[in-house]
Amino acid sequence: MSGDSELTVEGLAHDLNNVFETLSEAAEVLSSDPKWTKLASTIRRSVRRGERIVTSLNETISDSGDLTEILDNAVQHAEDVLTFTRGTAILYSRRVDPGVTLPGSQAAWERVFVNLFLNAAQANPQGAEVEIGASCSGGVVTLTVTDNGPGIPASILPAIFEPNVTTKKSRGRRGLGLHIVQSIVADHGGTVTARNHQPRGAVFTVTLPQSGVA
Ligand SMILES: Nc1ncnc2c1ncn2[C@@H]1O[C@H](COP(=O)(O)OP(=O)(O)OP(=O)(O)O)[C@@H](O)[C@H]1O
Ligand SMILES: [Mg+2]
Repeated sequence: MSGDSELTVEGLAHDLNNVFETLSEAAEVLSSDPKWTKLASTIRRSVRRGERIVTSLNETISDSGDLTEILDNAVQHAEDVLTFTRGTAILYSRRVDPGVTLPGSQAAWERVFVNLFLNAAQANPQGAEVEIGASCSGGVVTLTVTDNGPGIPASILPAIFEPNVTTKKSRGRRGLGLHIVQSIVADHGGTVTARNHQPRGAVFTVTLPQSGVA
């Protein structure tokens, strides 16, 4: 690929807009039949997410605001993906302290959580349970996503945030999800770690400076 200035986020957004418009039109057609209204709503939500992700690539870092809203959107997104692709859902629990805010764009943080939720579901197709933790102490925010799956294989644990590290063979899996997570967290001045816990499961921990705290 050349270093052409047209191959920028703006160019990508422009061409993806055609994709989004096509999907929106398809949702419009589907929504006229009561049988498909739920699917039409899912498609519309997915299009809005796609648009927000593209927009977020050009956003400057500011306060993304309410963590509850970020988590609600991420849970809804993961549910849409899982319900329509696998017919399974995740059982969530939250231990979120009030007043935790995250720096940066909401869409970026939703991507972080969605990738972690989908990994948990894929690790435990029989019935993933995910506990989301969020707390703030001494100007440091700690976010945790803990699951009840088999845990991360020891062979890949040291390299798990590298691109192209994957144990999945299904179509479209490229071992990029956790690399995206780490990149977004690093862009916001934070770090992310992965470990396994007893009796079983994986824990991902993000630490970063509380927004608004210098
Ligand atoms: N919660 C988890 N439990 C067990 N293993 C995990 C978990 N999350 C990630 N992994 C392991 O880490 C690998 C890399 O995860 P990552 O999200 O980067 O890529 P992927 O899920 O394989 O593919 P992609 O996210 O690009 O669709 C996974 O293939 C899996 O082996
Ligand atoms: Mg993944």
